[in-house]
Amino acid sequence: MSSNSDPTYYHIGFGRADLGERPPTLAVISGDPGRARKIARDYLDGAETLSENRGLNSYVGRLPTGQRILSTTSGMGAPSLSIVVNELVQVGVTTILRIGTTGGIQDGVDVGSVVVSSAAHTRQGAARDIAPEGFPASADPFLTVELAKAAEGLGIDHRVGVTASVDTFYEGQERSASSANPHLLRRHLGLTEELRHLGVLNFEMEAGTLFTMGLVYGFRAGCVCGVIAQRSDNEHVDLEAKKRAVDGAIRTALKAAEAFA
Ligand code: URA
Repeated sequence: MSSNSDPTYYHIGFGRADLGERPPTLAVISGDPGRARKIARDYLDGAETLSENRGLNSYVGRLPTGQRILSTTSGMGAPSLSIVVNELVQVGVTTILRIGTTGGIQDGVDVGSVVVSSAAHTRQGAARDIAPEGFPASADPFLTVELAKAAEGLGIDHRVGVTASVDTFYEGQERSASSANPHLLRRHLGLTEELRHLGVLNFEMEAGTLFTMGLVYGFRAGCVCGVIAQRSDNEHVDLEAKKRAVDGAIRTALKAAEAFA
């Protein structure tokens, strides 16, 4: 149990004292607590539960190369991620690698493949609490290269480039047919096409705030997402392809993690 000088952090539910003599310095983070648990149990060796608090579950386990890493839940969206990331940094984490899901908006960003985000066009309120409008949101370049090399080496279909990070799954990603709210604000109408013309690869909901935090707080940040929707002509999430896409993102992230853990 943690002492007062080594507090148990309120949201993540553990502290430095729970991490042992050689605490892990790398965390992979997933929005879904089930994915954080699956990564620990199915992809890491000797997984142990650190906490299952408020759905922000955290586990610790070993990579095949022996280093201990954390598998933690960010929760959905940037506000939740910002809290978890803040507390992870306080327990000594220096590399944070998001493993997420995403919707592709370019031809060739196919369902089942993965996207490695080199930077994010950040349309997120949480990021603006941390750094002003116009502040860059770029991933750690070395971690990004390692992610690309990992995907290449594993034979996983991948693209590397700019991601649009937004606060909402429906309005902010120009979904109306599948949404309870068919009335999009004018600034969202045509957004997907506009971003496509700017060369943006995909929509997701956390990377921009993670990258902003990495630059401001001084930790290494990266992101790899499995593509579960192709937004060129529909709003549909492909649950059949999700397993393959997420498995590709997890294997890419854990391979790259070997170089930084
Ligand atoms: N996650 C998102 O944010 N958007 C998608 O389309 C799929 C997953």
